[in-house]
Amino acid sequence: MTDRELLNMARDAAKNAYVPYSHFPVGAALECADGSVFTGCNVENAALGATICAERAAIVKAVSEGRRRFVRIAVYGEGETYCLPCGECRQVLSEFCANGSMEVLCTRSGGRYVSYRLSQLLPHPFVME
Ligand code: THU
Repeated sequence: MTDRELLNMARDAAKNAYVPYSHFPVGAALECADGSVFTGCNVENAALGATICAERAAIVKAVSEGRRRFVRIAVYGEGETYCLPCGECRQVLSEFCANGSMEVLCTRSGGRYVSYRLSQLLPHPFVME
């Protein structure tokens, strides 16, 4: 699957975003080591801290369907700047990618995207020994 195909899946997932507070839809498409893809969108809550980001929605769907090895995630947002995963999502992604090799693709308005390794975004995750 190409980067662009995965990004398009993230874009489609953003259509289901529940964003009455921020009005900022985000979609994610998580590619597993077996080639399957799980998508997610942000789901907001009146108690704002209970909001679930698109990335965590996708990872929880994948793990609850028995996947634990991930190779790439595409994050779609249409802001002025690239839609990078928040700190909490970086930590959650790192739980299932201890060496940080997961590719993280992030869009901005106009369809441009950047690519990082998770290890660049969170070089020192918390690890429970
Ligand atoms: N959000 C995501 O879903 N993923 C990100 O990578 C950044 C932020 C959501 C959370 C909230 O619903 C909205 O974007 C604004 O912060």
